[in-house]
Amino acid sequence: MKILITSALPYANGPLHFGHIAGAYLPGDCYARFERLKGNEVLYLCGSDEYGVAITLSADLAGRTPKQHVDLFHEINKAFFEKLEFSFDHYSRTTWPGHVPTVQSFYRDLADKGLIEEKVENHLYSEKENRFLADRYVVGTCPKCGYQEARGDECQSCAASYEATDLKNPRSKLTGSPLVLKPSNHLYLRFDHFKEQLTTWIQSKVWKENVVNFAMRYIEELKPRAITRDSEWGVPVPGMPDKVFYVWFDAPIGYISAAKEWAVKTGKPDRWEDYWLDEKTKLVQFIGKDNIPFHAVFFPAMIMGQNLPYKLPDEIPANEFYLLEGRQFSKSEGWTIDLEDFFTKYTPDQIRYCVAANAPETSDSEFSWKDFQMRCNAELLGKFGNFVHRVLVFAKQQCNSRVPKRGELHEVDKKFSQEMNALVATAALHFEGFSLRKASQTLMELSHLGNVYFDMKKPWALAKDPASRESLDTCIALCVECIKNLSLLATPIIPHSAQKVWEMLGFTSTLAKGSWKKIHETPLPTGQHLAADPVPLFRKVEDAEIEEQIAKLHAMAKLKEKPMETTSYEAMKETISFEQFDKVDIRVAQILEAVKVPKSKKLLKLTVDLGFEKRTIVSGIALKYQPEELIGKKVLLLANLTPATLMGIESQGMILAAGMGSDLELPMIQHLPPGSLVS
Ligand code: 2FM
Ligand code: ZN
Repeated sequence: MKILITSALPYANGPLHFGHIAGAYLPGDCYARFERLKGNEVLYLCGSDEYGVAITLSADLAGRTPKQHVDLFHEINKAFFEKLEFSFDHYSRTTWPGHVPTVQSFYRDLADKGLIEEKVENHLYSEKENRFLADRYVVGTCPKCGYQEARGDECQSCAASYEATDLKNPRSKLTGSPLVLKPSNHLYLRFDHFKEQLTTWIQSKVWKENVVNFAMRYIEELKPRAITRDSEWGVPVPGMPDKVFYVWFDAPIGYISAAKEWAVKTGKPDRWEDYWLDEKTKLVQFIGKDNIPFHAVFFPAMIMGQNLPYKLPDEIPANEFYLLEGRQFSKSEGWTIDLEDFFTKYTPDQIRYCVAANAPETSDSEFSWKDFQMRCNAELLGKFGNFVHRVLVFAKQQCNSRVPKRGELHEVDKKFSQEMNALVATAALHFEGFSLRKASQTLMELSHLGNVYFDMKKPWALAKDPASRESLDTCIALCVECIKNLSLLATPIIPHSAQKVWEMLGFTSTLAKGSWKKIHETPLPTGQHLAADPVPLFRKVEDAEIEEQIAKLHAMAKLKEKPMETTSYEAMKETISFEQFDKVDIRVAQILEAVKVPKSKKLLKLTVDLGFEKRTIVSGIALKYQPEELIGKKVLLLANLTPATLMGIESQGMILAAGMGSDLELPMIQHLPPGSLVS
């Protein structure tokens, strides 16, 4: 079978880290490696996503041209994947010239079908910067509460949401320059036309529930979306000289361009069609959960509007997020792993195994240094490495480093053999079903099974009695069979160690190029030479080095904490009289209930007690406070504010919070009862 596998094209806008590889990358690589072993014709593609306004802005800040910027990070990220032994058949980039005609032809097919509309609308424009600004680069005064630093789409003070064009005194977030409204024409893709076709298609899939649910929510609300931007950095829009395609229009087409570039490199430029245009190809797209709408809704709709019969994804294994010691990886906050240091101390297989064993498949998961140490010591070394080593050392001493002849199998040997085969089959099912975590677990179960069998058979005791020779030989013959199966199961996850084990069994071929079925079913030839000097596969990771890593992480984070002196303080407001202040009624309010407001990241709905009455309050503190931690707490409420409706809920007052930048904290009252007046 032909299997086309893709991993989300990472932005060439900064260096990748371990947090990234857990979602869309390592699971994709392990799956590709497994399917190749199964004898399928795999084409595994990835590459850099190199357009978009975020890239032009970072390039500007770094004093580079966008091209210099993406050239730099394309190479850095490519090298990172190589270090981790990724097996992409091709790592492309969206600035590859062949990408342009591919994107433009996608657009033309959609336009020919009447699915593209042109509209003129007002957008915010910086005359100083000479460009239109996307919402996230705009700040201004909130049209609802007057907060002066409100963001382009949502006010962080009163949580109102609005169009960026509704802000008063809009300014550029980067340069502070004032923005004016300027009409600009853009192309809109009528995604709403695909509602029915997408619904039928998604409902025919047996995908992870989160993918289907997420996609369905988007499909219900599909409306036309702009697919062009005013910029010079991107794929040019035919007939519109100052426009480029929006990065999320061109990026997924990058998967097709990547196949074209691969085909050109192999000397058969049409070969990409065997994968993309053949309905028998299985298309599997690995992504992180934040990319679900683009892969399960927008890109499929774009494909449905094409003349060529491009494949729609057959599977979209979307993974959750991977954190570092409970917090998001963040280079700017110093919360990261120093990769150079990492690769001098540890091997790619150690990190691959640790990430695979803990892959964020059903919920967010994390890298922690203690877990890394445990996985390396207790599992890789203690179970897998230990079994391989003890069997080969024993075979050297008692079998002259050769595969002994298998004798008659007794009940215990048969049971071991059956259980071994069952685990090999289980691992295959897990690999096939995108459950890398369980496949890694099965690898350890097989190591454990081998160790238990070896301990139970006690070959060292059998060696003392010549009458037990056949039993000893059978035991070792079965144990080396188990090692062979271990190397097979390990290949997709820890390819380097798997190959080492394979060679210690006396093979000279490349294990990754072998066949899963054949290797599993063909017993090692009796008499084959085993390694005379088996080398340990993994080294022990010491407590001291882990402590050092943890200390280094915290020290780095501390160093990056913004010193208070460099914080930009809000400008002082105008002076008011005591009479004016005296009109403000601030009360101690006790929180009785707190729940998240559906569809809002920032809002909580609170029921508070003022002693003399209860109120419903909507408060934008959900990013900082969990509902459960607030119950019973006494906070300060601006109680005589005109009620306002947020997300359809009337808020009868405003909880007061201190804020600095994006951080906030609620002042809390310890002893006084609800209803106490603050003056
Ligand atoms: O989220 C990201 O990193 C995007 N660059 C993924 C793009 S995937 C595909 F559409 F190219
Ligand atoms: Zn506001």
